Amino acid sequence: MNNVRIGIIGVGNMGSAHSKYLLDGAIEGATLNAILDTDPQAIQAFTTRFGERVATFVDEEAFFQSGLIDAVLIATPHYDHASLAIKAFEHDLHVLCEKPAGVYTKQVREMNEAASKTDKIFSMMYNQRTNPLYQKLRELIQDGELGEIRRINWLITNWYRSQSYYNSGGWRATWSGEGGGVLINQCPHQLDLWQWLTGMMPKRMRAFCQFGKYREIEVEDDVTAYAEYDNGATAVFITTTGETPGTNRLEISGDRGKVVVENGKLEFWQLRVSEPEFNQTYTGGFGEPESWKIDIPIKGEETEHPGITQNFVDAILKGTPLLAPGEEGIKGLTLSNAMQLSSWTDDWVEFPIDEELYYQHLQDRIKQSTVEKKTAKVTLDVEGTY
Ligand SMILES: NC(=O)c1ccc[n+]([C@@H]2O[C@H](COP(=O)([O-])OP(=O)(O)OC[C@H]3O[C@@H](n4cnc5c(N)ncnc54)[C@H](O)[C@@H]3O)[C@@H](O)[C@H]2O)c1
Repeated sequence: MNNVRIGIIGVGNMGSAHSKYLLDGAIEGATLNAILDTDPQAIQAFTTRFGERVATFVDEEAFFQSGLIDAVLIATPHYDHASLAIKAFEHDLHVLCEKPAGVYTKQVREMNEAASKTDKIFSMMYNQRTNPLYQKLRELIQDGELGEIRRINWLITNWYRSQSYYNSGGWRATWSGEGGGVLINQCPHQLDLWQWLTGMMPKRMRAFCQFGKYREIEVEDDVTAYAEYDNGATAVFITTTGETPGTNRLEISGDRGKVVVENGKLEFWQLRVSEPEFNQTYTGGFGEPESWKIDIPIKGEETEHPGITQNFVDAILKGTPLLAPGEEGIKGLTLSNAMQLSSWTDDWVEFPIDEELYYQHLQDRIKQSTVEKKTAKVTLDVEGTY
């Protein structure tokens, strides 16, 4: 095979963005050959914008049976990600899945099990993993430059969303349509990076989600979470869609130094000797270890969504290692589920989380949902929103 024929499932905001760069020929070794959308108006909008250049389907079975595709890119609302991926594996197709991996870990576990039974390539659209700054930070942490990690603080409040955004699609910010708010829609990127950068998952977490605090929505739009790790490290994660101007500041401290990522810059302070070593030998009372601020050169461009799609295609054609293996999607989702569950039960959540309990609580919220959306679907330009 020297060309991967891709079929996109869901051509709303994000599916249209993926279609554009694929139709522009931006991905070497891949073509867009088909699209599937259950809404005929979305198909109509697609052909109006791009012309009749690919096969279009509203019927799922016909799409999967068409023989026109080797791989799917799933860009539907989150609840369907896992079931569509499972169906694609059953039809011997490679899968690139939009974030989040799903809404609850139980369904994502089933998706991962289906993936493990095939030899097909499975990747997640974690486009922020293509950012060379985060790649460098991960390398620093893995090489031990920070020493033992002690504290992770992420203040990510620059996901501002107005009411008109929430009104732009009936599924948005509802328990039945989306299964959450800022944690499941905007923050999957940071929740993934949080564990990917450090290689650590918490042992327990306590979180405080506020639901519909700033907008007429039923899901969380303000979150403060505190986590503890096996090695004694702690973390705080704060996010909202209701504040502006927002902040995106990540600070990670270890016993050999500290990094701060803010405004597209990576700043690194390294201790001359580790803090425990200093503490053991220092006799002067007040005083602290000497430290240097080091400029970390960041080389390369953030290739974003096309970068992940190219990596996925290269994995199929050349065996290139995946930047965002699909099976890893469950990790960030576990953090998100844990934050909601801790708020719902008003208690600590231990890891691994009780998937069944989370699922039951989510079902209760779906049943009690009172939000009725009567607004028409609007396709928004997602450029620069991720
Ligand atoms: N990686 C990123 O940076 C990024 C950015 C935006 C959105 N997303 C993700 O993309 C997904 C879609 O978001 P969006 O903003 O494009 O939504 P959207 O509502 O604009 O588009 C979704 C489309 O999927 C179609 N659809 C729904 N169920 C379907 C099904 N079962 N089969 C086929 N088509 C179906 C809808 O008719 C609609 O056209 C979400 O999971 C979202 O989290 C990712």
